[in-house]
Amino acid sequence: MTDLHEQNILILDFGSQTTQLIARRIREAKVYCEIHPFSLSIDRIRAMKPRGIVLSGGPSSVHDTDAPAVSPEIFNLSIPVLGICYGMQLISLIKGGKIERSDYREYGPAELSIHDTSDLFHGLATEPVRHQVWMSHGDRIQELPRGFISIAGSDSSPVAAMKHETLKIFGVQFHPEVVHTEIGVDVLSNFLFRVCGCSPTWDMHSFIESATEGIRRQAGTGRVICALSGGVDSTVTALLVNRAVGRQLTCVFVNNGLLRRNEAEVVLAFLEQLNLNVRYVDAADRFLALLSRVEDPEKKRKIIGREFIRIFEEEANKIGDVNFLAQGTLYPDVIESVSFKGPSATIKSHHNVGGLPEVMKLELIEPLRELFKDEVRKVGRELGMPDELIHRHPFPGPGLAIRILGDVTEERLRIVREADAIVLEEMKTSGWYRKTWQSFAVLLPIRTVGVMGDERTYDHVVAIRIVDSLDAMTADWTRLPAEILARISNRIINEVRGVNRVCYDISSKPPATIEWE
Ligand code: XMP
Repeated sequence: MTDLHEQNILILDFGSQTTQLIARRIREAKVYCEIHPFSLSIDRIRAMKPRGIVLSGGPSSVHDTDAPAVSPEIFNLSIPVLGICYGMQLISLIKGGKIERSDYREYGPAELSIHDTSDLFHGLATEPVRHQVWMSHGDRIQELPRGFISIAGSDSSPVAAMKHETLKIFGVQFHPEVVHTEIGVDVLSNFLFRVCGCSPTWDMHSFIESATEGIRRQAGTGRVICALSGGVDSTVTALLVNRAVGRQLTCVFVNNGLLRRNEAEVVLAFLEQLNLNVRYVDAADRFLALLSRVEDPEKKRKIIGREFIRIFEEEANKIGDVNFLAQGTLYPDVIESVSFKGPSATIKSHHNVGGLPEVMKLELIEPLRELFKDEVRKVGRELGMPDELIHRHPFPGPGLAIRILGDVTEERLRIVREADAIVLEEMKTSGWYRKTWQSFAVLLPIRTVGVMGDERTYDHVVAIRIVDSLDAMTADWTRLPAEILARISNRIINEVRGVNRVCYDISSKPPATIEWE
C-alpha cells in the first residue's frame, strides 16, 4: 500500500474462493483495500497502517497440521479485526476457544438470528427476525474464547458471529461478501465505517488524480511506450499515462493480420478521437508468413508473441531513448501471483506482451495494478472513452490464429472473420452483447457432409463460443435464446462461403477454457 491510500483495509487471504469478492465489496463501499497472503509479516502489516484487517475464509481446518495461521501479535496492534469463516475460527483458536471438528461441510443458505446490534450488526433487526445468510464451513465454534460473546446464532451454529467485549475483534461464520447474504453489505459497511472509522472516499475520480500524480513522479521527463490493442485495459492505461505526461508517451498499435473484420480501422479511429499519439504498424505479412503450416497451439502463441516483441523493439528503436513501458496489468493478475495459492501454473502462454520488459530492459508503469475490471471501465468512462470501446469484449493477443484450429491461411482467416462478424452483429442487435463476457466464432479443422439445394456439400464447421464470466478465471456458456442461435447459424451457413454446419459450445471453464487453443 502506498501513502496515496491513507484509509485502507488489509485483507489477509487464507485461500477462499471468495477473497476477491471481499475486496470488491469493500471497494464498492468506496474504501480502498488490498489482498495479501496470510503470511504477511507483522512488521509489514504495521508499516501499512491499515484502518482494519479482514481475515478471509479458507478451505483448511484450523486443526490441520500446517493449517495457515497469523501471529497472535496481530491482535496487539490496536487495529480492528474481522474474521470471516476460517478467519473467525482462527481468532477463536488463537484466543483460546474450542473448535469442533466436523466431518461434513455446511454449505448454502442458513438463517441468522441477531442478538446484539451495537456495532457489526448496527441497524439490523434482532430476533425473532431471521436473516438469510450464506454459509460454507466445516468446523464450528464450540466454546467461545475468554472475553468474547456471541452476537448471532443459526440453527446449526449457536455462535454464528462473535465479538470481543472490549477490543475491536469480530468474527462471522457466514460470508458477508456473497450476494446471497442479504445483510452482507450492511455488515461490511458497519465494520468499515462504525468500527474502523473509514470514510467513503475511494472512487475513480480520486484514483485518476492519484494515478496521474504517481505516473508523473515515476516517469519524470522520460519517454514511455505502450502497446495498444484497442482493448479496455491497454487503452485506459494509455489514457492515464497520456493525462500524466502527454507527448512523452508513444503508443504502438500493431496489426498482426489476425484481427477481426475492420478492427484496425475502427480502433484507430477511436484512438484518434481520444487524442493519443499512436504509431500504426501493419505487419500482417510478417505474422502470416511465420504462421504458415504451424498447427500446434503453443507454437502459434510463441511465434506471435516473439514476433510482436521484435516489432515492438524495432519501433522503440525508431522512437529512440525509451525508458518506460506502460502496461495494463490488472489487480486479479497481481493477486494471482502473490496470493495464498501462489503463482498459478501456466495453462496457456498468455499475455503475449509479458516478455517485453525483460527483453527491452524497460521499467514498467502499471497504473491499473490496483483495479478490478469494472473499476477500469469506470476510469475509462471518466476519461472520456466512448461506451462502445469500454464495453468491447476482450480479444486475445494471438487473435484469430487461436480461433482457427490447425493451419492459419488467408482463406481460413476469411471464414472465421466473416462468421465472427455475424456473431457480433447478431449479439449487438439482440441486446445480448453487453450481457456476455465474450462471443466469437471458431473454425474447426474438419469438414462435414451437407446438402445445399440438390447438391451434396463437404464443407467447414464453425463453432460458436459465447460465455458469461466475471474475470475470465471461470466461465459458463451463455444460455442464449434458441431464436438468436438459429439466426446466427442460418446467417453463417447462408452468408459465409465454405461453411455448412454450426455448433454451439456448451462447456464451462473449468474444465474447458474460453478460447479453443
Ligand atoms: P482462456 O482461453 O484461458 O482465456 O479461458 C481467458 C481470457 O483470456 C483471453 N486470452 C488472452 N488474452 N493474450 C491475451 O491478451 C492471450 O494470449 C490470451 N489468450 C486468451 C481470452 O480471450 C479470455 O478472455
